[in-house]
Amino acid sequence: MPEPILRVTDLKTHFRDSRTGADIRACDGVSLDLNAGEIVGLVGESGCGKSTLGRTIVGLERARSGSIRFKGQDLLALRGKTGAATRREIQYIFQDPLSSLSPRQTVGEALDEALIINGEGNRAARQARVLELLAAVSLPAQLVHRYAREMSGGQRQRVCIARALAADPKVLVCDEPVSSLDVSIRAQVMNLFLKLRDDLGMACLLIAHDLAIVRLAAQRVYVMYLGKIMEEGQSADLYGQPAHPYTQALLSAVPLTNPDDEQARRRILLSGDVPSPMNPPSGCRFRTRCPAARAVCETAPPMVQRGAGHVALCHFAADAPLGAL
Ligand SMILES: Nc1ncnc2c1ncn2[C@@H]1O[C@H](COP(=O)(O)OP(=O)(O)O)[C@@H](O)[C@H]1O
Ligand SMILES: [Mg+2]
Repeated sequence: MPEPILRVTDLKTHFRDSRTGADIRACDGVSLDLNAGEIVGLVGESGCGKSTLGRTIVGLERARSGSIRFKGQDLLALRGKTGAATRREIQYIFQDPLSSLSPRQTVGEALDEALIINGEGNRAARQARVLELLAAVSLPAQLVHRYAREMSGGQRQRVCIARALAADPKVLVCDEPVSSLDVSIRAQVMNLFLKLRDDLGMACLLIAHDLAIVRLAAQRVYVMYLGKIMEEGQSADLYGQPAHPYTQALLSAVPLTNPDDEQARRRILLSGDVPSPMNPPSGCRFRTRCPAARAVCETAPPMVQRGAGHVALCHFAADAPLGAL
């Protein structure tokens, strides 16, 4: 197996609460791999630390400890011009395309500017490249003259993705890229990530709070809760045989397309909200909301191997009957 293009190891990103001075342990010891040309999902409820992890990977937040290796280089140690060039190979896509596009620029101008930032000095070459970028995200060439407000949400998000592609990235970190979009067009934008993988060999970290949306594109999925990865696996294993009660609860909230299955679906309702990352529960962080919690959960659980590449951070992950916790 070649080394993953992106390897995050025991990454911690904490914030300081301005009122109390306490540590907000938003991302609290996360390890995650992304292989070249792979689409990986990162899923969890709001406030679990997904954006903090994504933003730390692209350098928008500062890590407290741990490492991020990209193409074998230590990203956290990179400085200066080469550092900036390497960083550009990982691009971030924001949740809200409207606020990440300037209202005063046409699509053509926004893409042109991105190409200039990335060192393309030749005007004719840029014009040709703008059309290529639009084609790469399946947008018609006429859109070059449009402003953000004159487009649909889906078109705007495609423009943001095209702008990210101007940097010739190897990795896209997409933070809830379809959350702000109409439900009817979410799948189309998710399919675009599959197209980018197939056409350009793009690797994507797809962040979402919804397990169902990630399933459309991700080959592997990480489930995050309160700053930690709770379960990791190939999509078929994680969706078919979820080992962690948290994953099971998230999955039980997803409606099923087959009417008989939907009829039989048992919802696992989680009580309460995600606890504060300033004061996470001792032992297993999920234990205060876990329907299967016992006394042993007051001690930290091990990462338990369930199958090839399928692990869960739960005392019972090894011996629980599949899907029956
Ligand atoms: N800049 C910040 N300053 C202080 N706290 C923050 C900051 N950014 C995020 N947090 C806190 O860190 C936790 C994780 O947030 P976030 O990474 O945005 O989660 P998610 O993207 O999963 O919703 C939350 O409790 C949030 O309030
Ligand atoms: Mg977020």
